[in-house]
Amino acid sequence: MNGNENDEMKKNAVQTADSYIAENLSVLQQTYRHSYHAMPPIGWMNDPNGFIYAFGKYQLFYQFYPYGASWNSMHWGHFTTQDFIHWRLEPTALAPDGDFDRDGCFSGTSVLKDGKLYLMYTSVLADIQTQSLAVSSDGIRFEKIGEVISSNQLPEDALRTEFRDPKVFKRGNAYYALMGSRTIQGEGQILLYRSKDLLKWEFVNVVRRDRLTTRGIYECPDLFEYEGKDVMLLSPQGYETKDWRYENWQSAIYAVGKFDAEKGIFEKEYEDEIDGGFDFYAPQTLKSPDGRIIMIGWMQMWGRRMPTAQHGWAGSMILPRELSIKNGRLYQRPVRELQDYCWNEVTYKNVALNGNIVLTGICGKKIELHLLFDLKNSARVGVRIFGHGERYAEIYYDRSADLVVFNRSQMGMEIFHDAKEKDASVRSVRVKTEENRLEMLVLLDVISCEVFLNDGERVMTGNVYSGGSDISFFAEGGEAEIIFLEKYDIIN
Ligand code: FRU
Repeated sequence: MNGNENDEMKKNAVQTADSYIAENLSVLQQTYRHSYHAMPPIGWMNDPNGFIYAFGKYQLFYQFYPYGASWNSMHWGHFTTQDFIHWRLEPTALAPDGDFDRDGCFSGTSVLKDGKLYLMYTSVLADIQTQSLAVSSDGIRFEKIGEVISSNQLPEDALRTEFRDPKVFKRGNAYYALMGSRTIQGEGQILLYRSKDLLKWEFVNVVRRDRLTTRGIYECPDLFEYEGKDVMLLSPQGYETKDWRYENWQSAIYAVGKFDAEKGIFEKEYEDEIDGGFDFYAPQTLKSPDGRIIMIGWMQMWGRRMPTAQHGWAGSMILPRELSIKNGRLYQRPVRELQDYCWNEVTYKNVALNGNIVLTGICGKKIELHLLFDLKNSARVGVRIFGHGERYAEIYYDRSADLVVFNRSQMGMEIFHDAKEKDASVRSVRVKTEENRLEMLVLLDVISCEVFLNDGERVMTGNVYSGGSDISFFAEGGEAEIIFLEKYDIIN
């Protein structure tokens, strides 16, 4: 084959994907489609990739398979946005069509250098994973440069088949890449590489190594700085369940500490789960032009049945969140851009709760609900969402366990889950309930529910497929009070 034919074929793989998308969009059944969350135009989506502000807008790439609603040969899909609410579909960025990435363009990140946007991703060929680069000068069309870290550059005891998800960033004059890996003995580890030019890389150090359950690996590392602290985000397979933490087989965790990039040493001060719900994985962050650290993540979980798949699509992203570190702990809030789309305010104050009540004007499935409870002496206090006849999901404070519970067991559909998880219908987190108060911000979008507790001290995310829009409030085994309640329709 001559060079021209080769170029022609490469162009075709991206074009074939885009023509397929354009021709098949109209067959999608709309029932479960979100209104303000990023989701695939058709087909399958998993991890966010290459999340960055570049060329005057936010760029979101993602693991994408256009031709079916289950994981398969990985492409990089592409959206741009100005507000994290409207996601503009761009041409597919990468297709697995190179002689080094024929079996998949797996996850990675991006970096701006000399006005060009570089995507660093995992190239898969016959099960061997290496790291490759693609570049664009307009942020729309990407040219593959080829493999830049080969599996020969791995430490001796690392597996060539589990070496992926580069997080590329600049410190001082050097570029660095953090990467997920597994040792031959079955430990998960994070490796660090360094480069002057993004093209030639040298191994620096093993930043972290742990034995995870079921010989899992750390996937999708991310790193950001916040007021003098370094925060590393990791997505381990099989992080051991501890009490109410890490109940998904694949959790996402953050570690706060100090990172010495030159030596490749991370001194950890604190570590915890990022999201205590059902559906959250593989988060990435960017820094916005106004200095905010903004995180996005996959709003699904491996090993689960995804009811939207029968409608031709599967997987979506959380609404991006603004991160901060207070007293060494992570706090998360929905991006402030959402406020521009909140309409039709309905408020209540000092509503006594004893049993179950419905409040006039409080319903909907594309809404923001903001609540402050006085828990008083009740055993359980909370809210039911996505109600439809007997079906609903509920979020409540359970006094006997001192936990906030997200229970979707009554949604009218069982979610098949991996045998490594004990269930996929109840998750809990513990928050401070000082002066017997609990604050909740709930974002609903057709099937998704993101709950921010006590101004982002803990977050729980989950999909609920009950199909309804009824909302009610309850207190059981005693009395409680809704000190205030605000509801907004999210109209975009
Ligand atoms: C995480 C992950 C990554 C990998 C990608 C493949 O969800 O398994 O480690 O690069 O998905 O789609």
